Amino acid sequence: MLFRQLLEPDSCTYTYLLGCQETGATVLIDPVLDTVERDLKLLQQLGLKLTYTLDTHVHADHLTGAARLKSLTGSRIAFPAMDKLHCADAGIEEGRIFRVGNIDIHPLFTPGHTSHHHAYLVDNGTHQMLFSGDALLIEACGRN
Ligand SMILES: [Fe+2]
Repeated sequence: MLFRQLLEPDSCTYTYLLGCQETGATVLIDPVLDTVERDLKLLQQLGLKLTYTLDTHVHADHLTGAARLKSLTGSRIAFPAMDKLHCADAGIEEGRIFRVGNIDIHPLFTPGHTSHHHAYLVDNGTHQMLFSGDALLIEACGRN
């Protein structure tokens, strides 16, 4: 699995790229509107096609690049189903694995920062990675 951590410094938002090396399917977790061009350049450099964007939550401190990336690449938008977003192509729920290529993403319902916040757990066999969004902040916990 290809993995990249990317930072948008103004909002201190981390975006994560996960790419399936067997299928080329790729997901960006928590893409930021201001860094869409950077993300597109990285995808191009890595020879990947964006399959999905996946957000942990909807919030004023996080302006997602999901719709812009969809319009530019044809990627699909995945969001927590609880948010009932009309723009979502896939609704995410705890207990239902979200699969991107051969990458299994386990959604975890983690309310607090927002009522519908979800974190995403990925286990690639050797490492477990938790993409916690704003449920956990560096040196703090996610606050509302
Ligand atoms: Fe947030």
